[in-house]
Amino acid sequence: MGDYRQAYERSLRDPEGFWREAAEAIDWDSPPGRILDDGAAPIYRWFPDARLNTCHNALDRHVAAGRGEQAALIHDSPVTGTVRTYSYRELRDEVALFAGALRRLGVGPGDRVVIYMAMIPEAVIAMLACARLGAVHSVVFGGFGAAELAARIDDAHPTVIVASSCGIEASRVVEYQPLLARALELATYQPAHCVILQRPQLLADLTPGRDVAWADAVAAAEPAECVPVAATDPLYILYTSGTTGRPKGVVRDNGGHAVALRWSMSAIFAAGPGDVFWAASDVGWVVGHSYIVYAPLLTGATTVLYEGKPVGTPDAGAFWRVVAQHRVNVMFTAPTAIRAVKKEDPEGKLLTGHDVSSLRLLFLAGERLDPETYAWAGERLGVPVIDNWWQTETGWPIAASPRGLETLPTRPGSPSVPVPGYRVRVVDPSGADVPPGEDGSIVIGLPLPPGCLPTLWQDDERYVRSYLSAFPGNYLTGDGGRFDADGYLYVMGRTDDVINVAGHRLSTGAMEEVLAAHPAVAECAVIGVHDPLKGQLPRGFVVLKAGFAGQPEQLSAELVAMVRDRIGPVAALRRVDVVPGLPKTRSGKILRRTMRGIADGVPEAVPSTIEDPAVLDALRPILTD
Ligand code: COA
Ligand code: AMP
Repeated sequence: MGDYRQAYERSLRDPEGFWREAAEAIDWDSPPGRILDDGAAPIYRWFPDARLNTCHNALDRHVAAGRGEQAALIHDSPVTGTVRTYSYRELRDEVALFAGALRRLGVGPGDRVVIYMAMIPEAVIAMLACARLGAVHSVVFGGFGAAELAARIDDAHPTVIVASSCGIEASRVVEYQPLLARALELATYQPAHCVILQRPQLLADLTPGRDVAWADAVAAAEPAECVPVAATDPLYILYTSGTTGRPKGVVRDNGGHAVALRWSMSAIFAAGPGDVFWAASDVGWVVGHSYIVYAPLLTGATTVLYEGKPVGTPDAGAFWRVVAQHRVNVMFTAPTAIRAVKKEDPEGKLLTGHDVSSLRLLFLAGERLDPETYAWAGERLGVPVIDNWWQTETGWPIAASPRGLETLPTRPGSPSVPVPGYRVRVVDPSGADVPPGEDGSIVIGLPLPPGCLPTLWQDDERYVRSYLSAFPGNYLTGDGGRFDADGYLYVMGRTDDVINVAGHRLSTGAMEEVLAAHPAVAECAVIGVHDPLKGQLPRGFVVLKAGFAGQPEQLSAELVAMVRDRIGPVAALRRVDVVPGLPKTRSGKILRRTMRGIADGVPEAVPSTIEDPAVLDALRPILTD
């Protein structure tokens, strides 16, 4: 039996023994006695009696072990033309000081801190400072608009919000202050303070009494020590798109998270202390939380924080420049980023002159990896390309080729095999396993391994309803797919209203809520259609209320602007068509799936329950246009 198979089978047969061993790689203030608490099943808790501090494990212990002068974080920012390296000692000191600043502003264990920042070191420092105090951070992606930020403020009730004065996109400076001000107007909950990091590119006006400049907050602070917390205490909340406009607050605990991420670095990513690890993602997404911030630092590796794009900062050779300049060993990004590079530089000419020989492996995740992109990246770089499948909820890969355990051959179109700890099944609507080769819903048998969400923020009921009730005893991933005869998994796409646009997870339901709020709109539908660069793009369809006297083109432009304003530019909704009607079943359900199939050119059988086939026929030319 191969090493992978052995580890996988053991993880399911003896999960407590398996994770007890993995837990030895973490420093505990009180080591785990019990491993799994199943007393409140289906809600499980890992390491129920243990105590630790995540920041200590990410920074202080490496300094104590002699890694103080090793680079912990390299901020590479083509948009500002700067590169700055922090050693483990420097990063620990800056984090301790900012933790002291947060403490002076009233932040203690269990308090929430919302972080709304660009890809700058202070974002990482703020996250780790929260971890140091036992506080709970909630990072909001900079590309989200004011209403999304407000929804998160109202759910998390932060004591403090930490923001940067601006973000820098390839084409423009994004002013954060008006977005934050608008979010605070929209939110019913108000934080006690906002800490604003003033970037030289654009200074924000501070509101006296409430706002404190980062520099002033730090100047007045004493360094704070690490506060041990229960392994089951929350480390962060990360909001993600569900099927409605109300985002889901995915909770990550301290203990299970540290154990799982540290284990994943060795077993899946084959990366160890001293390696240079680069996840070209954003700290606003789960990949950024796990593989820019926590996993590399828990491992004693060097992490690269890249404030730039795959293309346009300045060109499609930017990734290769970063790999060569920082001697990156393991890289992680989204397929869409590689597609963007490939589109601009199909022959990989911009690789010339960059010595990328340090690179051992390229990991891709966030959306389905199409075989063409997989082949292109492998051929150009000459390293194995590892597709891996996971979600905000799990925090680390569910399926991958675990390179640290065994070199399993990869197969185009498949993120390979279930990772140890995850009892992955493909089931039919009755919950029975379907045979290899047949499609079904992908579910994971409970308990989920350490590191996965134990619940949603202050909402066990929604957690159980959303994920655990469709197939009792299993977690519903929301993805559909199949196994092949050799146990390789193929993940084909979401079975719900979640779409993936350029590696960003978005909810069509949330966009529909925005469109429906327009006084001229009687009903609407948003679907994700295939896009060769971004994977999917949203398209909107609206039916007008009787008596609308305006111009449809102007209304479409207004609706596009509303989505951009409320959800944010990342929603990338650029087209809304005014249509005479939407196809529905006789019970009134809009046939979104049928619409999507027609738009994607996939032969879709028209459901026999359709109310009026003529409505669908009228829509066909618009869908395929
Ligand atoms: N702050 C503010 N605005 C942001 C933003 C941020 N952090 N991130 C994106 N935006 C804006 C962009 O400026 C753009 O605005 P525009 O409509 O005014 O041009 C809009 O949101 C859409 O951005 P994006 O989806 O990034 O599209 P793009 O055309 O600018 O770039 C790619 C296309 C493929 C290069 C880019 O999407 C990319 O790098 N994707 C990889 C994503 C990724 O790593 N995901 C993490 C999962 S691992
Ligand atoms: P997020 O929560 O933003 O990480 O998005 C998770 C969703 O992205 C999953 O439920 C999948 O639909 C999709 N996804 C992520 N990685 C992959 C992958 N490797 N293959 C196919 N789909 C993926």
